[in-house]
Amino acid sequence: MHKKFIQVPTELVNALADARHVLVFTGAGVSAESGVSTFRDALSGLWARFDPMQLATPEAFLADPALVWGWYEWRRQLLLKVQPNAAHHAIVELAQRVPKLTVITQNVDDLHERAGSRDVLHLHGSIFNPRCFTCAQPYTLDRAPNMTHEQALTPPTCRHCQGMIRPGVVWFGEALPQAEMEAAFTAAENCDVLLSVGTSGVVQPAAQIPQLALRSGAWVAHINPDAMNCQHPCELSLVGAAGQILPLLLPS
Ligand code: OAD
Repeated sequence: MHKKFIQVPTELVNALADARHVLVFTGAGVSAESGVSTFRDALSGLWARFDPMQLATPEAFLADPALVWGWYEWRRQLLLKVQPNAAHHAIVELAQRVPKLTVITQNVDDLHERAGSRDVLHLHGSIFNPRCFTCAQPYTLDRAPNMTHEQALTPPTCRHCQGMIRPGVVWFGEALPQAEMEAAFTAAENCDVLLSVGTSGVVQPAAQIPQLALRSGAWVAHINPDAMNCQHPCELSLVGAAGQILPLLLPS
């Protein structure tokens, strides 16, 4: 049996050793080894099995609130059952070995926090923080329903205005949370190394973050089982699973 060894490029080893500020930018792939589906993987991705236009827009929610709420409650219940993986833990470990580390995630799960990362910037919200569709008041969720598969579920009602409670995630066509977005772009402009982990990099404006870091003089390393097309001299593609590669990047 062959064992595949990954050679971490010397440029990246040196850049991490010298870095004052490391930015870790994550997408669904960082949670894949915890058993969480990504969105765009050809067979297992959520958007291969479900239509985002029926589940992930404000219009879809208004057209069929129970379908949308039920789908997010099904996903919340799945997320509560999984655990952080080696990639989440390596990011926590890396934070202890560099002067400053910022985690920016597109994920709506809480696996970075459960691994021990602090002050994670959630660009696409959190599945655990729903709010009123009408007045935006936060809503405290009960225990997740025991759903064996995705099923329609009427959303709860706002205690302030009787509006419908919606998932606390950013849907297609919606703006990103202002404070998180500003903090993320500032971090991208000021980091020395950006690790882009498990993202297809196609959803804007989050996808601009690695480009912004490159333009600001940082090294950018993409960590993904799919090789990335690197255009810039300071851009590297490390091909493999996040849980396999991130532990190799820890400076001693
Ligand atoms: P995608 O599903 O688009 O991309 C996931 C990436 O993870 C792909 O490039 C995979 O090759 C890679 N991947 C799979 N397994 C991996 C592993 N073990 N280690 C590392 N990488 C792995 O997910 P995102 O880029 O996160 O938006 O998608 C961005 C946004 O699109 C999501 O935040 C979501 C979705 O619609 C909202 O929910 C608003």
